[in-house]
Amino acid sequence: MKVTEVKHPLIQHKLGLMREAEISTKRFRELASEVAALLTYEATADFETEEVTIDGWNGPIQVNKIKGKKVTVVPILRAGLGMMDGVLEHIPSAKVSVVGIYRDEETLEPVPYFEKLVSNIDERIALVVDPMLATGGSMISTLDLLKARGCTQIKVLVLVAAPEGIKALEETHPDVDFYTASVDDCLNEQGYILPGLGDAGDKIFGTK
Ligand code: URA
Repeated sequence: MKVTEVKHPLIQHKLGLMREAEISTKRFRELASEVAALLTYEATADFETEEVTIDGWNGPIQVNKIKGKKVTVVPILRAGLGMMDGVLEHIPSAKVSVVGIYRDEETLEPVPYFEKLVSNIDERIALVVDPMLATGGSMISTLDLLKARGCTQIKVLVLVAAPEGIKALEETHPDVDFYTASVDDCLNEQGYILPGLGDAGDKIFGTK
């Protein structure tokens, strides 16, 4: 799996602001979206382009256009919604495919409970977004689901990742490209990433 920790100063600065304990919901939400947009810029850097001829103001000219598959953004409910607008800022025509995963209380296994995917998902590049990659359980389950629906080109964008989650993803889905603003230290006993951001879903939705 290609793992890219994006060290761009804008990303690092914004992520640092997000780690402040007293950050407001408004600010956290704005920054999640801004960092997602910057990660999207990085994750699309290898998209192929082709030269096409257009009518310019002074006659025909050659310009570059993105070639190949179109994109679908895949937010994982619920926190992934906090990164969706950031991706769409740079790829406004992308279709959105939503996936919901819950953890079974008894088996502790992630179980998909909702999916509404674009119909031709096998013809699209999926940009899967979720702010936190902790154990990797819901991400792995989402990637299993997308591949079962025919998706062959997948990029994962997260704000913060735990090494444990990256390892699990590498073992199960070595073919995906992975982008994060930070690989943090570890998971604590409650499954929170340290130093992390706390509960990203609660911070985005203001539910705590
Ligand atoms: N989900 C979160 O929101 N935060 C963590 O640290 C881990 C999982």
